[in-house]
Amino acid sequence: MHKILVIGALGQLGSELIEALRRLHGEDNVVASDLREPTIKNGLFEQLNVLDKQALEAIVNKYGVTRIYHLAAILSAKGESDPKFAWDLNMNSLINVLEIAKEKKLDRIYWPSSIAVFGPNTPRENTPQHTIMDPNTIYGISKLAGERWCEYYHEKYGVDVRSLRYPGLIGYKAKPGGGTTDYAVDIYYKALEEKRYTCFLKANSYLPMMYMEDAVSATIELMQAEEHSVKIRSSYNVGALSFSPKDIAESINRHIPGFQIDYDPDFRQAIADSWPSSIDDSAARNDWGWQHSFDLDKMTKTILQGLKSQVTI
Ligand code: NAD
Ligand code: SER
Repeated sequence: MHKILVIGALGQLGSELIEALRRLHGEDNVVASDLREPTIKNGLFEQLNVLDKQALEAIVNKYGVTRIYHLAAILSAKGESDPKFAWDLNMNSLINVLEIAKEKKLDRIYWPSSIAVFGPNTPRENTPQHTIMDPNTIYGISKLAGERWCEYYHEKYGVDVRSLRYPGLIGYKAKPGGGTTDYAVDIYYKALEEKRYTCFLKANSYLPMMYMEDAVSATIELMQAEEHSVKIRSSYNVGALSFSPKDIAESINRHIPGFQIDYDPDFRQAIADSWPSSIDDSAARNDWGWQHSFDLDKMTKTILQGLKSQVTI
């Protein structure tokens, strides 16, 4: 029986991952935690600043935590407004978690990386697992350094830490927290509310993306994989979709005729231009059997149906 702590549980990913983990391991075995207070009291919750190592350790002791999913981070676009703070949070939080894992011999740690570890000199199409990595956002720099820390703790101290380089994650159950791929979430809200959307990226900006349900499955499958099949301890490339703002607008148009998109690129365009447009995730598929199940149209249909029940049009 595992006791699980999810840090950053109220975020876009955490709010969906926590539901899946509770279904799998039982309500009483999964503790949610976040810097923010929960809006709805639901299940075990602890308010935690993950930069406070003593507070983190107290929660691990209180519940006898054996596995940690550490999701708290400042994302790419938001990180550029205060790079020093983004570095402090993204790095020191990870080191706190890895240190506690080492000291308390925790069973497994999950920490997400991102396509932001790649940079302007990385091959953009079908980006390989091992390639040039020269990120030029503070977020990407912190994720690349984090990958090195994870591999280091695995090799030097035997910490069983596992990681995925997520593409842009698209869900509708929680609002995104300041990423460059957030347009692909916002567009669905605006399509239902106003039948139009002004996109901060250009029409043909292709980026790797993934529907949240697939991201949750990938995370859980990696964490359940046998130790010997997890061969990469920095972070695995995982892919699913690759689309542009024009493609997603066309997909929405098939459900909401008359939906209009226009384009007003801002500083996030340069970030998008430095990232891959598609990902080679063959290592994840070969090592632990990764498969995605949502294509663009299935994702659009699912999100619009889900949002209709929660957005007042
Ligand atoms: P998010 O911004 O929606 O959620 C992050 C959560 O962390 C928030 O609820 C926030 O309150 C919490 N948090 C912030 N500072 C904290 C602190 N000091 N202590 C405790 N909690 C704190 O982010 P997300 O989209 O859910 O992303 C989760 C993880 O996945 C991040 O590590 C992110 O880098 C990674 N990731 C996300 C995407 C994406 O498209 N969403 C893509 C690649 C990687
Ligand atoms: N989707 C994330 C972002 O845009 C990538 O990690 O920041």
